[in-house]
This record gives sequence, structure tokens and C-alpha cells, in this order.
Amino acid sequence: MKVISEISPLRDQILYWRRQGQRIAFVPTMGHIHYGHLTLVKKARENADVVVVSIFVNPIQFEKDDDFSAYPRTLNKDIAQLKVEGVEVVFTPSTDIMYPQGVDEHSFVDVPTFSHILEGTSRPNHFKGVTTIVIKLFNIVQPDTAIFSKKDFQQLAVIDKMVTDLSLPIDIISVPTAREIDGLAMSSRNTHLTVDERQRAPVLVKVLRWISYQIRGGRTDYSELILDGNNQLHEAGLKPNELFIRDAITLQPISNQTSKAVILASSFLGQVRLIDNLTVDLTVQVVDDREE
Ligand code: PAF
Repeated sequence: MKVISEISPLRDQILYWRRQGQRIAFVPTMGHIHYGHLTLVKKARENADVVVVSIFVNPIQFEKDDDFSAYPRTLNKDIAQLKVEGVEVVFTPSTDIMYPQGVDEHSFVDVPTFSHILEGTSRPNHFKGVTTIVIKLFNIVQPDTAIFSKKDFQQLAVIDKMVTDLSLPIDIISVPTAREIDGLAMSSRNTHLTVDERQRAPVLVKVLRWISYQIRGGRTDYSELILDGNNQLHEAGLKPNELFIRDAITLQPISNQTSKAVILASSFLGQVRLIDNLTVDLTVQVVDDREE
């Protein structure tokens, strides 16, 4: 496995593979590799001859209040894990390599219809930062396919739309959220949870499952469900930040055209912002009384 931190040698490597007719899969990450990332790498392997993973903590997708410097950085351990997975190249650029003129004057790519709603209203720069770094990485790696987790549901929708709107010749593949045994969505940020917070954290997915169950049982009073969900989170000691029930394709409020809904949630637990989501097929109703 090669670890490359500059653009030009990576481009040389990509060109070499291209000339050999190899199919390239790409997994962009911010590092602190966990099992969830490895599921993306496995999916990449199934869909290509060679796998490139990037590790770059992208400053421009962090809001002022987010603690960019506290984001967990474990490069050597990450590299060791990716080597075991048989990844061909890990791209580990510095901020100077990605933003040589600094971040303030940098051009950006924005997907306003999907980036400025939901999570984008409280984090106005976040998705613009994500799309800008993702398109830069796509331009450097020029993959045939790129793999993302469904855990960041809105991020995935934004990237899908960017790829379609800008006619990028890249297949976007999504992989289900990897979960701990108690249901908590795996995330690099979970390392910052205290022991007590870690025990309480799965309540987020429990509330999502409860709402999903209610919807599948036929409830359509979405505002009431959101109120109840937020109350349950409060009672469990979380600070609910966002809870939305939307059309999973358009991200707009549910209409009678909606066949699949998505419940999107973010909540603070201490200093950690947990996010999660569940989709609900509205064409199938619950017929028994067991809660999932
Ligand atoms: O999902 C992430 O880890 C990041 O948002 C991404 C896609 C690697 C861009 O920095």
C-alpha cells in the first residue's frame, strides 16, 4: 500500500492504473477509521480493481462553533487498518496542499437546493465545504465510483445532486449506516463521549425507531411526532438540535407523492453532536404490534 500526500505523484499513479484499464473506487474520509469506514472500503473493493482512500480533515466544512482542532486524528493507526484491508493508496494531503492560497479566497461549489435546508440552516457553510472538498478530491483521484455512508443522509443527497447537476462521470454508491450492537451509529466523534454519555447515546436511534414505527402504523401527525420525539430525547438527557420528517428523495415535507420518508436527527450529548437517520417505506404498513 502506498501512502501519498502530494497531488502530482497521486495523479501519476492514477494515470498508470488508467492505462492498464483498471477501475478505480474512491472512499473519501476524515480519518479516525472505524468499522463503518471499513464497510465502505469493502464495498469499494467489490466495485473496482483498485481502491483509493483519502484522509483529510477538511477545515472549510466545520462551522465556527465546531471544534475543528479537536477532531480525532489517528493517522498511523488509520494507515495500519487500511493496509490490512488491502487498500492500494491512501491519500493524506495537508491543508496547504488542498488550499495552497488559504481557505478564505478559495472558489467553492454549492448545491443550494439541498445544502441550505435542514441541517444547512443551522450550519450554513457545512455542505458548501463538503461539496467543495469532494469535487476537488474527485478531480484529483478521477474515480469511476465513490462510496459514501447513508449515515450522513443529507450529505449523500447533496453529493448525488452535485454529481448529477455537474455531469460528473462517477457512480455514487451508498452503504447502510454501520451500528454498534446497541444501535448507536458509528462515528469518529463517538470517541469524545464519556462513559455515561456513551451509555445514553443509543436513545437517539431508539427515538428514530419509535417514530418510524408510528409512521408505519399509519400516523401522519408529523409535527406531533417530532414534539414527542424531542421530549423523549430531552428526558434521556440529550439536547435535541434537529428532528425532521421529510420526503427521502426531495428532502421536502411529506406530500401525497411521497413513497419513502426519512427521519433525520441531530442531538447534543455533552460536547458531542450525534446525528442519525432512518428511512421509512410509506407503502408498507405495520401489521403486528411488535416495536422494532
Ligand atoms: O463524510 C465525511 O467524512 C466528510 O464529510 C467527507 C465526505 C470525507 C468530506 O470531507
